[in-house]
Amino acid sequence: MSGLLLTGISHLVTNAGPVISDAVVAVEDGRVIYAGSDDDAPGLEGRIHIDCAGKAVIPGFVDAHTHLVFAGDRSAEFARRLGGATYADIAAEGGGILSTVEATRSATEEELFDLTAARVRRMLAAGTTTIEIKSGYGLEPEAELKLLRVARRVGRELPVTVKTTFLGAHSVPTEFKERRDAYIRLLIEEMLPAAAPLSDYCDVFVEDGVFDVDEAREIFTAASRLGLGARVHAEQLSRSGGAMLAAELSASSADHLDNATEEDAAALEESGVAAVLVPGASYTLRSSQAPGPMLWRSGCTVALATDCNPGTSYFESMAPIISLAVVQMGLTPEQAIWAATRGGAVSLGYDEKGLITPGVPADMVVLDAPSPTHIPYRPGTNLVDKVISAGRLVIGHIDV
Ligand code: NIG
Ligand code: FE
Repeated sequence: MSGLLLTGISHLVTNAGPVISDAVVAVEDGRVIYAGSDDDAPGLEGRIHIDCAGKAVIPGFVDAHTHLVFAGDRSAEFARRLGGATYADIAAEGGGILSTVEATRSATEEELFDLTAARVRRMLAAGTTTIEIKSGYGLEPEAELKLLRVARRVGRELPVTVKTTFLGAHSVPTEFKERRDAYIRLLIEEMLPAAAPLSDYCDVFVEDGVFDVDEAREIFTAASRLGLGARVHAEQLSRSGGAMLAAELSASSADHLDNATEEDAAALEESGVAAVLVPGASYTLRSSQAPGPMLWRSGCTVALATDCNPGTSYFESMAPIISLAVVQMGLTPEQAIWAATRGGAVSLGYDEKGLITPGVPADMVVLDAPSPTHIPYRPGTNLVDKVISAGRLVIGHIDV
């Protein structure tokens, strides 16, 4: 037998048309060949049968913003913040990102691969089939390349699709604190050209006290000459101008956006920049959520992502992110599921991901629930029953 046949699906989200009940999906050679109602299904015998009675099927999650390659943890810093210290206080003392940089520089490439692969296996088990992975905890030429190589290797060796982003401009490393211009020169002249063959995008943390708009513009312009698209950490802790810069540069995405205004939203929409929202970071930092409903109303492509990192958002699964987006941010469950699948895919430039429609790679999640609304409604339960990545069952088993 070749291919898969999912039948009796109670609620099929294709992102290519309305929800279909009592649906069937057929997969051949890694791709969807039919997704529709049981009544209209052509003869599809001869495939491995998966009974989906009482279950919903959605596209695999597309996690469009992660900082997945790191060593160590920052639980002590988390505890300090609960006691009143702020993220910015801790960063100014040389903690925060820089403490993860220290741990990550000390780890070998093999150790980092093992740590990252373990995270990706947990992400897969929670339904994520496509992941954007940033560097940014090396902050020196060879260490940044080490992180990017690990990210690319994860995409080759595990059943997930990976896009990589060079985030050498995540922070100015300690040894350059008094010479930030020298770090920016190193970034542009040495690090970016070396990182470009391993990267799809470039990112800059645009924030008061980190990189300003002019510095970011120079870095993104150099990256663009090397063929890299732009993703921007924008308006996370303050309104620092990252969103307007993303619009000016027609970036692929502006991410975080907690402090974005209607003016920012209009500019992003006008320039076709996706708004990648990361409610796990706002939750962990106990700050207000990004204005998701306003960004949606203004016509922006809204995506949801974990922002998985050891400082501000140690979430590996998309389900709690969807729950935060619904309960705290105010997106509807349907909007949040779209943003966690097709929205993420659009932000990463994929025509064929985040969809279940004939011709696309078969990345799908079978939920142990009759509709995807159960995801935000039951945030404490992993409702993922099966995961199919590129047409292969990679999580769950088939009852015979
Ligand atoms: O997305 N904002 C910058 N970068 C991360 C935090 C990284 C860290 O604290 O290690 C973020 O929140
Ligand atoms: Fe981030």
